Amino acid sequence: MIYITGDTHAEFNRFSKKFFDAMENDYVIICGDFGGVWDDSAYQKYWLDWLAAKPWTTLFLDGNHENYDLLATYPVEQWHGGKVQFIRPNVIYLMRGQVFVIDGLRFFVMGGASSHDVSSGILEMDDPDFYEKRRRLDRERALYRVNHLSWWKEELPSDEEYAEGLKNLDAVGNRVDVILSHCAPSSVQDIISSGLFEKDRLTDYLDQVRERCTFRRWFFGHYHENMEIGQQFVMLYEKILPLTDYLPGEENA
Ligand SMILES: [Fe+2]
Repeated sequence: MIYITGDTHAEFNRFSKKFFDAMENDYVIICGDFGGVWDDSAYQKYWLDWLAAKPWTTLFLDGNHENYDLLATYPVEQWHGGKVQFIRPNVIYLMRGQVFVIDGLRFFVMGGASSHDVSSGILEMDDPDFYEKRRRLDRERALYRVNHLSWWKEELPSDEEYAEGLKNLDAVGNRVDVILSHCAPSSVQDIISSGLFEKDRLTDYLDQVRERCTFRRWFFGHYHENMEIGQQFVMLYEKILPLTDYLPGEENA
């Protein structure tokens, strides 16, 4: 079985035995904002070991709440046809722009998203006024992040990652079973937000993928709600869905 869920933000209680009982050989895919590679703390290590002790394999893509400096310290390896980084032997990061074959199904993966809780800006730790600025922003309860501590420019893909995604899709004739992303294509964002959510290069790119690809379902996280949009798109938060329930027999063009 393959299960799919939305953002975990390093809170893995939804996978406790009380709520979830996947088995050996099962896969659980987290659609970004995994949060388990964040600060190298004992707390984080405890939860990664907790996940690793589960019988299933946890797969995740990245969102906009990952520590990209830390993630980059794990070696890149090949797994099921695409590039991954092993965080634990059965906790695996699915890298951007990759195509994987898992249980006979072809997946295209493109993580990343723009952070929107940064309206008061990004602070630099080497700014001489850093502490003063941070105190003021905290006092004002402002929405800000700190570069390399709580925000990374790598939350959006690089030119190379965008290009690699299209190249890998071309190599499989632009036909996959499932697409996994953290944010949604611009056109889907427009539906869920009545046009209010900001588009960016990644959401526009995902629309390009939508147009060129034949796929059966597209799952994404990021918006912290569970909702089906049309016949093909599924927005996920804390729900854990069995993939087989969401794959119609016929491919949608
Ligand atoms: Fe999130």
